[in-house]
Amino acid sequence: TGATTTTPEQAEPGFRLPLPERFFARSNPFDPPPALVEEAGTTPVTEIVHGGKPIWLVTGHAEARAVLSDTRFSSDLRRLITRMDDLTEEQKADFLSEESSAGSFISMDPPDHTRYRKLLTGQFTVRRMRVLEPRIAEIVDEHIDAMLAGGTSADLVPAFALPVPSLVICELLGVPYGRRAEFQESTARLLRLNVPIDELLRERDRIQDFMRDLITAKRAAPGDDLLSGLITDSDLTDNELVNIANLLLIAGHETTANMLALGTFALLEHPAELARLRDDPSLADRAVEELLRHLSIVHAGPTRTATEDIEVGGTVIPAGATVMVSVPAANRDGGQWPDPDALDLARERGPHLAFGHGVHQCLGQQLARVEMTIGFTKLLARLPGLRLDTAAADVPLRTDMAIYGVHALPVAWDAP
Ligand code: HEM
Repeated sequence: TGATTTTPEQAEPGFRLPLPERFFARSNPFDPPPALVEEAGTTPVTEIVHGGKPIWLVTGHAEARAVLSDTRFSSDLRRLITRMDDLTEEQKADFLSEESSAGSFISMDPPDHTRYRKLLTGQFTVRRMRVLEPRIAEIVDEHIDAMLAGGTSADLVPAFALPVPSLVICELLGVPYGRRAEFQESTARLLRLNVPIDELLRERDRIQDFMRDLITAKRAAPGDDLLSGLITDSDLTDNELVNIANLLLIAGHETTANMLALGTFALLEHPAELARLRDDPSLADRAVEELLRHLSIVHAGPTRTATEDIEVGGTVIPAGATVMVSVPAANRDGGQWPDPDALDLARERGPHLAFGHGVHQCLGQQLARVEMTIGFTKLLARLPGLRLDTAAADVPLRTDMAIYGVHALPVAWDAP
């Protein structure tokens, strides 16, 4: 990081990176940034200074679980926004308005969070996700068919990794996939780590307008999809519905998409592991958990606010502090996993934190698991000789995005 280059951190006006830039710089695509590993090696909870302000970075596995299972570490958006002194008062009021924040339960604490979470867990049961399996398999097959029909090479991101979970979440929610242009670009912009604040508000408005129209239409003529179900079976307001739907839509496709693409990249770079999975598809469930652990695509957060002085791993985190859990560091904690840096697809399933932990633990994890299990299995089964179609060093990494992964993944396979 030479002094002559403009780092994202220096770009103005904008949101600062959530951590200093060095915590995002990778030495290879699959391992946590070296600066993070170094920090984790010193102590499981470290106070660092970023933009003149302290952040408590939690890198130990036990400590990360302790923070995430203790709701005195608050997810409340109001606490976070109040501390952001680079926002104008008007912008703060905008973020905290009823229109903008109602229903957004990922940024709430119990009991507010509990009410919404209960409404939604009924929709995301293991059983219901199993029922979706045949349709997910069909969607996966259709995309592989199209890749095969198109020749012997493709960029896996637009050809497979992004559209598969996007189509799945659209069908589940009842969002017309044909209108994806209206939300996918906004979503991608919103998920940049350092998005300028005026742009963030603009894109948020676009995606909210899109969803508001859809909710209005569904109120008039409900279908049999999840959003129609929420409309008819609950007394949620339009503001609540719009924000819940957008949370699900955004969380539901960008995350799984990046696991599919980065996971495939990791398999291709670990040929012995890839062969193991291809030869024994019954390994798929374990393989998915190991890829989740190894790759930790949520690379900056979850973030919380300490509501009182709380001791974690021998360190007292003071009331009001910003606390950031590092999933990539915690998922490589040698105290939890033997040989933590090895990608071992047969590794016994352990308590990885890729989906978080505690009351906010990922609502869509069963859906994501089904998509990944089917996705990886079919990719390996149906694309013989699957390989990278570029130098590994040339694969563009999403170090600039809130969800880590790859921007593109050129792959090739053998002609049938
Ligand atoms: C929460 C990761 C897929 C919906 C979370 C959290 C993590 C996470 C780490 C915790 C956030 C926190 O504690 O503040 C992932 C990963 C995925 C994935 C790695 C894919 C591989 C999905 C899918 C959906 C989804 C497919 C939707 C269908 C949600 C929602 C929350 C959440 C709604 C908030 C839950 C709450 O606050 O109670 N996810 N997610 N996620 N995720 Fe996922």
